[in-house]
Amino acid sequence: MGKAFGAVAGVGAVGSLIAMKQTWDPLPSVKAAGFSTIDLSLIPENELVVEKWRGKPIFILKKTAEMVASQESEDAARDIIIGDAHYLVVIALCTHLGCIPAYRDAKKDFKCACHGGEFNVSGRVTKSPPPSPLVIPPYKLDGHIVLLGEEGPEYKKMKEAGVVA
Ligand code: FES
Repeated sequence: MGKAFGAVAGVGAVGSLIAMKQTWDPLPSVKAAGFSTIDLSLIPENELVVEKWRGKPIFILKKTAEMVASQESEDAARDIIIGDAHYLVVIALCTHLGCIPAYRDAKKDFKCACHGGEFNVSGRVTKSPPPSPLVIPPYKLDGHIVLLGEEGPEYKKMKEAGVVA
């Protein structure tokens, strides 16, 4: 009788642990919500596209050949490059206090209306008060598809180079 009770209690304990684990684990829909996929081949040149990742706005800009030719190496280091195409992909929140900067096509830069901060077309600060560049989200490339939310080899290279934190 005692052994039978012990066995039943043991099965019950395992069942409880499984139930608890299922409660702690995020739902599949929540897990999936952590990723966004964007087909970069559909992004037109010099046209700011805004996507969403984990509730945050994401700026995507395909640079023109002139932009690429005239940029500094620190800017190029922040590009996602596929073939000849260079893309800016950043979280569209000013690193000062989190406002959303606006793209100025005439100047090919971003201006934050909140306190006047400015970023160049690679997201690097050109006018304070923002303390740091626009943040490049973790990404992984699969052909022309960029998956936001996962660190792929290209992102890890940026990390090693100190381009992203
Ligand atoms: S929030 Fe952008 S400059 Fe202050």
